[in-house]
Amino acid sequence: MKTTVQLLKNHIDEEVKIGAWLANKRSSGKIAFLQLRDGTGFVQGVVVKSEVEESVWNDAKSVTQESSLYVTGTVQKDDRSPTGVELVVSKIEVIHEAVDYPITPKEHGTEFLMDNRHLWLRSKKQHAIMRIRNEIIRATYEFFNKEGFSKIDPPILTGSSAEGTTTLFHTRYFDEDAYLSQSGQLYMEAAAMAFGRVFSFGPTFRAEKSKTRRHLIEFWMIEPEMAFVEHDESLEIQEQYVSYLAKSVLENCKIELNTLGRDLSMLEKIQAPFPRISYDDAIKLLKEKGFDDIEWGEDFGAPHETAIAESFDMPVFITNYPKDIKAFYMKPDPEREDVVLCADLIAPEGYGEIIGGSQRIDDLELMKKRYEEHDLSPEAYEWYLQLRKYGSVPHSGFGLGLERTVAWLSGIEHIREAIPFPRLLNRLYP
Ligand code: 4AD
Ligand code: MG
Repeated sequence: MKTTVQLLKNHIDEEVKIGAWLANKRSSGKIAFLQLRDGTGFVQGVVVKSEVEESVWNDAKSVTQESSLYVTGTVQKDDRSPTGVELVVSKIEVIHEAVDYPITPKEHGTEFLMDNRHLWLRSKKQHAIMRIRNEIIRATYEFFNKEGFSKIDPPILTGSSAEGTTTLFHTRYFDEDAYLSQSGQLYMEAAAMAFGRVFSFGPTFRAEKSKTRRHLIEFWMIEPEMAFVEHDESLEIQEQYVSYLAKSVLENCKIELNTLGRDLSMLEKIQAPFPRISYDDAIKLLKEKGFDDIEWGEDFGAPHETAIAESFDMPVFITNYPKDIKAFYMKPDPEREDVVLCADLIAPEGYGEIIGGSQRIDDLELMKKRYEEHDLSPEAYEWYLQLRKYGSVPHSGFGLGLERTVAWLSGIEHIREAIPFPRLLNRLYP
């Protein structure tokens, strides 16, 4: 019977056939161990010389790394294997022989691996990270559907900017100027007025000249937007969502977390509610920790975020930032005009900001004033203004950066491994 590696556990003691690639191999004079992968998982194939035809033994000895094969064998329970089974091989058919596969089990430099990203994706660690990414996406749809959100897709080509003009990717739209979306938020606000609770999931682009372990040029964002929801309620939804992601990854990616050597206790701790600290108190905390380089009114850099996060063993919300360092659409705190009703969620272990969110301005006159202050073209943003004209309601939303979340939950060093084909400064290949 033909099956996949993932389903082998349902076929104990049966004879099965799988299509697979040879990831690695060890052999002695009498026995060969084939590390087989088919994309759904990894399994060890055992070839015993005395129990197979000579041609099968010869193939097992000579088959090269990343050759594609059909392998027939009997599934056996094996408690030492991560998948719980191994395959006792009776037959090997070589479909295609790979010659001189460039990525060998030895150590390679990052640039070399990045140049070979199309092949590097096949390796065990990269495979585990992408499966965790897949689980986060799956759990996202599950969570928001369960909570009554509709998925709405904002456009990617836009005529306006959502997050400031310095990081815009410019392109032409026939005779007009256009930009790649930095965030779907403004459109999601329109969608929330039509569907109440909405979320989007799509690629976003920032022409950021930063080369850090947290920045991509092209990244994927999940952007929920909710009508009749104020700031505090939005934070509750955020912490429930992030806790749900951690729980789903823990439950459904055991093999992958194990492959990555992830400290599971760090993930088990992630349970709502999350601590909250105001921007004012965060500044005080930094001063106490000896940071003399930051003053009230300045934005935090990565070292500041990491220092704040170290004081908590869970993700922490930093709330109510100064209005002048945040986006034009954020609602001022009714008790204090100099700060806005916003929060960034900072992940533990130095992974930085994974969510940025806020309550939005719902007052037409105040929004018009912000347009003037921020020099926004009234024509390009007329539609956005109209949302405050026809049945305006309090509403809030947020954006979760998928790759930062993948990097954090997987426990990997660098964000470039959290997306299949990273777009980085100076990297558009492959
Ligand atoms: O904080 P940001 O810029 O917020 C927005 O875009 C809002 N319009 C979202 C909303 O309210 N709907 O970005 C949101 C998140 C960040 O917290 C971070 O996780 C991620 O997107 N992010 C990046 N991830 C990778 N590379 C980059 N260059 C990123 N910039 C932001
Ligand atoms: Mg932000």
